[in-house]
Amino acid sequence: MSLHVVDHPLIRHKLGLLRAKNTAPAAFRRILSEVAALLSYDALRDLELVEIEIETPLEKMRAWRLARPITVVPVLRAGLGLANAVLELLPEARVGHVGIRRDETTAQPEHYYMRLPDDIAAGPVLVTDPMIATGGSACAAIANLRQRGCRDIRMMCLVAAPEGIKRLECEHPELPVFAAALDRTLDEKHYIRPGLGDAGDRIFGT
Ligand code: PRP
Ligand code: URA
Repeated sequence: MSLHVVDHPLIRHKLGLLRAKNTAPAAFRRILSEVAALLSYDALRDLELVEIEIETPLEKMRAWRLARPITVVPVLRAGLGLANAVLELLPEARVGHVGIRRDETTAQPEHYYMRLPDDIAAGPVLVTDPMIATGGSACAAIANLRQRGCRDIRMMCLVAAPEGIKRLECEHPELPVFAAALDRTLDEKHYIRPGLGDAGDRIFGT
């Protein structure tokens, strides 16, 4: 796997705002969207293009279009916060949903929902989830997509823990992960430190 920590002053600035405990859900959602747009620049950099002919008001010319249909797959719930921002940039993208929640005591991922486009494997897939902690949820989501035949998969997250990245590297060595930060460690409750707390709670105010 290749972990790309997208290092940009705007991302660092906004991530600091997201981490701060007094940032309320409305601001958290807005800033998360801004970071997602910045991460998209790198995460979608290698999308395949085809050359087509168009006509400007003055003459014909060759231009570019995306070659294949892209699917954004948020891991519910918190992945929605990133996915919505990607859809602002890429309104033609399809959306697949994978519902996975961690058991609060064991930190084991539990699947509760999946709805994907039938031909999802026909194009690239961008999985979004702000947090990679133990990596259990991300590994389960990627394994499901692989079972559906997806090969061109990349993942966007906000904050990753070294433990989760190690697990992803082991189970999905070819998966590119685009993150705003690689944090220090997991604590005894499997929370990322320093982290930002429970991303879903902070996005949705639960
Ligand atoms: C959070 C987060 C990831 C997962 C990360 O979701 O959004 O999906 O935990 O932890 P892991 O790497 O140890 O699996 P959570 O299960 O809290 O569900 P939510 O999005 O509904 O809040
Ligand atoms: N899920 C979160 O939302 N935050 C963490 O720190 C770990 C898992």
